[in-house]
Amino acid sequence: MNFDVIVIGGGPGGYVAAIRAAQLGLTTACVDGFLRGNKYSLGGTCLNVGCIPSKALLQSSENYAELTHSFIEHGISCDNPKIDIKQMQKRKDDIISKNASGISFLFKKNKITELHGWASFVTRDGNQWSIEVDDNGQKQKLLATHIIIATGSIPRELSQIAVDNKNVLDNAGALALTDTPKELCIIGAGVIGLEMGSVWKRLGSNVTILEVMDKFLPSADEQISKELHKNLIKQGLIIKNGVKIGDIIDKDGITVHYDEAGQQHELKCDKLMVAIGRVPNTNGLNASAVGLKIDERGFVIVDSECKTNLENVWAIGDCVRGPMLAHKASDEGVIVAERISGQHPHFDFNTIPWVIYTNPEVAWVGQTEKQLQDAGISFKKGVANFMSNGRALGLGNSVGFVKILADETTDRILGVHMVGPFVSELISEAVVAMEFKASSEDLARIIHAHPSLSEVTHEAALACDNRQLHG
Ligand code: FAD
Ligand code: NAI
Repeated sequence: MNFDVIVIGGGPGGYVAAIRAAQLGLTTACVDGFLRGNKYSLGGTCLNVGCIPSKALLQSSENYAELTHSFIEHGISCDNPKIDIKQMQKRKDDIISKNASGISFLFKKNKITELHGWASFVTRDGNQWSIEVDDNGQKQKLLATHIIIATGSIPRELSQIAVDNKNVLDNAGALALTDTPKELCIIGAGVIGLEMGSVWKRLGSNVTILEVMDKFLPSADEQISKELHKNLIKQGLIIKNGVKIGDIIDKDGITVHYDEAGQQHELKCDKLMVAIGRVPNTNGLNASAVGLKIDERGFVIVDSECKTNLENVWAIGDCVRGPMLAHKASDEGVIVAERISGQHPHFDFNTIPWVIYTNPEVAWVGQTEKQLQDAGISFKKGVANFMSNGRALGLGNSVGFVKILADETTDRILGVHMVGPFVSELISEAVVAMEFKASSEDLARIIHAHPSLSEVTHEAALACDNRQLHG
């Protein structure tokens, strides 16, 4: 078979690239090797063991936490509330199946050839790339003018103990538990650790998170990290920063030895989750056969346009530099497909939004206060709280604030940082504003619906000019 484009990987980077390429009239195939159980399942990490299942479990566990803790405030109560973890998992699995078949449907609709198995480079054949797809020993050769590598990432492993997804879990294992562990230890207080820790804490586990860095969530704005930390501790999560993990023994339960401020400790748990970052999944590509350049950490080396060192070979998503986020992967997919068809789209790393789906949620776009200070940029800031917002009070969720950072001289918005209810949704307004190079005054002069959470963003914009109305 011969195509204009073969996409290797069917995650949010790869499948979106395939759809856009097909929309632009290119004959396209997408090869994916992800196995869910013993069946191939499109959607990559994001759909099968990442974004979507984690958000499904976050919602189920949040509903349970509300039923057991906060509905009483609304005058709603029931005797003996229970959670059926197996049903919760079935719901999550149904969402994955529905979305995975949705991608297959989109492939058919766009006349994309869907192939299953592991793809690797064979050689350059005239003006074309030759790729082999291995589906459980059944091998076929494909030719294409362009290759888009979208092979994603896999969990980084801890040297002390191997993941078996029985007692020692990675994201896939922690998303598939069918009973609530009594004691759950998580190594790594990053995004996965905090989200999965929140899920199992709400469902009744005692959760301890051990983190090597001294600072909690250093990538977020400091004021935001502090607010999140305070609230997670209030919910009963135990988070220990600045610890060094020692031996880990898996015998009669798991024992984690660690050093905290020079003192040796041991922690016993039923389940251990390892969430210490992810590494690019580029080993299976047979890169050396064609001289594809990969850096020492396994990332495919690309330029600002996602071009590799090889002619007509592109790479996107988690397997290249930049944040490991699904929307970043998808956007790169669109952009590469458009570049292949001769267009010149733009991509701005500075306006990629970040969201952490804890309670309260955290979201940001652009620069933090520290980044602006380090760069010597003078800025003003406006902060407004959810506490005085009528919609937030009605929701029963009024923790947190919105902070806008704007250039001291030009008033252009440089960063927006949010912690509070549904900020995963509110951040889009800030992204649009920054993409359109808006000033804080632009946001302040836009009418926001009442009562809505977005009024807090409006108030933060007003606060940049010391004219907040409700603060
Ligand atoms: P992937 O989604 O990893 O897809 C790559 C695909 O390629 C996989 O199916 C893989 O099996 C396949 N593949 C690899 N090599 C080959 C080969 N040689 N041949 C054939 N197929 C191959 N991001 C967010 O933006 N928001 C979130 O809320 C979020 N939550 C997350 C929660 C968890 C628990 C995890 C683990 C991640 C989360 N992420 C989230 C990150 C997000 O999942 C990734 O950034 C995203 O999936 C990257 O997309 P991708 O297409 O680059 O790679
Ligand atoms: P991460 O990079 O967010 O966090 C890993 C944490 O583990 C870091 O704080 C790190 O200091 C710590 N760590 C590393 N080695 C350690 C050790 N030996 N002992 C103790 N702590 C150690 O990575 P994480 O949480 O695994 O997630 C991977 C990626 O997936 C994220 O970077 C993010 O891009 C993506 N993701 C995004 C989500 C979202 O957008 N809501 C949700 C979940 C994941």
